[in-house]
Amino acid sequence: MSLESVLETTLERTVSENELDGLILKASRARSKSAPYGAGQGQAKKPSWHARKPLRLLKMELGNTLVLHPQTGAWTIVAPEGLGQVQAILRASDEGLLDDIPDVENRPLVKSLVSCGLLGRAPMPAFGVSDVAKQRPLRLMILKIVGYCNLACRYCYDYDDATYHRTLDVQLGKRAIEEALACTTLSLSILFHGGEPLLAFDEIRVLTAFARQAARRAGKDVNFSVQTNGTCFTGEIVDFLVTEEFAIGISLDGPSHLNDLVRIDRRGRGCHAAVEASLERYPVLRRTAGVLTTVTSVNARELRRVAEYVRDLGIRSFNAALFLREGRAAGSSDGLSPSPEDLIAGYLDLLAGVESGAFDDIQIWPVLYYLRNVLTDARPNACLRNGGCGAARELVSVTVNGTVESCDCVRLPDLSLGSMADSTIGEALHGQVAGLIKSRSECSLPRCSACLYRAFCGGTCFARAGGLDKVNESECRLSRAVFGEIFKSLNRSSRLERYAQLHS
Ligand SMILES: C[S@@+](CC[C@H](N)C(=O)[O-])C[C@H]1O[C@@H](n2cnc3c(N)ncnc32)[C@H](O)[C@@H]1O
Ligand code: SF4
Ligand code: SF4
Repeated sequence: MSLESVLETTLERTVSENELDGLILKASRARSKSAPYGAGQGQAKKPSWHARKPLRLLKMELGNTLVLHPQTGAWTIVAPEGLGQVQAILRASDEGLLDDIPDVENRPLVKSLVSCGLLGRAPMPAFGVSDVAKQRPLRLMILKIVGYCNLACRYCYDYDDATYHRTLDVQLGKRAIEEALACTTLSLSILFHGGEPLLAFDEIRVLTAFARQAARRAGKDVNFSVQTNGTCFTGEIVDFLVTEEFAIGISLDGPSHLNDLVRIDRRGRGCHAAVEASLERYPVLRRTAGVLTTVTSVNARELRRVAEYVRDLGIRSFNAALFLREGRAAGSSDGLSPSPEDLIAGYLDLLAGVESGAFDDIQIWPVLYYLRNVLTDARPNACLRNGGCGAARELVSVTVNGTVESCDCVRLPDLSLGSMADSTIGEALHGQVAGLIKSRSECSLPRCSACLYRAFCGGTCFARAGGLDKVNESECRLSRAVFGEIFKSLNRSSRLERYAQLHS
């Protein structure tokens, strides 16, 4: 039997060989396909073909159809004349009609459906909250090295009266590093955070040297990053960070008329000029550092302008963090929380900028994170992940007084993992609270379980949502808007794919 004759049976019309070519216009790339078949399996009968189910079909412009498997995020965009064939192949696989067709995996249409993850030989891997997702090893430890800061940003979530004057005890920091390395399989990233971490440069230097030795002893790799307000650089600090190959994140919320409304010192003076002066004095920072912008009501609609400003500074990486109502921003009624409308308008405008080619020379992470999740099933961003976010899995945060948190953003007392005074980091990551956190995913949230985009979104940040069983309304609306627009763009051109490749 040939594939054409199988399709003829299903479609009830004659199908020519050429008809099976070029019908798939775009598709996701699945890293994890069906279980490997081959070596060691001798002449045993190959496993049967299976299609992902249930699928959703969405009409797009130009008469094309998006065929999407919401549970895994496998998708393809099919030309109008190809939908019948695609559906027929998927149906035929379920009826076992593909199983005996010689060389069927090398037919173009079958190949495309396999490579995007919609079709495969049984058993299809379990996606969603898989055991693999639950067991992802620790990759990143955030070390809150100080509680204090030379600035007093209006929104600072990190501000805590109780720990404001503290510096992380170096011995405790060393213990945290050893314990985190023990939970890591290959490589650990350590992010020095605060407060303003560069106010504790001596401690950072000591802990960096210690971590390198400890990693060597453990036979693992370690790398470092620092998130700074950009006002405390000296020649010595910059040399050290560059020599030690730190990833440097500088916080800046845009040009002075935006940044200086929120990122201020205790006397209300904005820090924009000081940050620009650092970039002027240490040009190496333009090449090596990225900018992190906090998205508030002040700059949400201006996100594209902010990114253009960062690009024009000569910086090559732009990231954004959504406003979190914690710390100094907790219970505040000063209107810094962006409206969903502003958020969506800002992100879609930024996406349009990326599509236009205006940002080809700079990584625009607020777009790349969403885009990569659509284009592949790798899901590199720990916050936008099906099967549960990175908190308490590949991510842990140690506060300045040794409290172990699942993520730096999590300030919900019931969800604290414990204290280094009572347990090791490994124990905290395997405790009851960590288990609860790891059980949250898009599959456990009623609103998300029927969502088209759930594999790409993962159900939003539970810290911003205010609980494990909640979804942040703004972030949900943002996800739906951005993923919807990404698919529209993929349907009309290849520009976003090209951009993702430029920055792969
Ligand atoms: C808490 S600061 C600590 C590191 C350093 N002092 C700095 O400003 O980069 C880390 C990042 O969190 C951001 N941030 C502060 N308060 C926030 C909030 N309420 N919501 C979201 N991000 C916030 C800051 O703008 C900064 O980019
Ligand atoms: S956001 Fe960073 S710079 Fe601003 S007050 Fe908080 S710790 Fe300091
Ligand atoms: S948060 Fe919203 S967009 Fe994300 S998976 Fe849930 S319902 Fe879908």
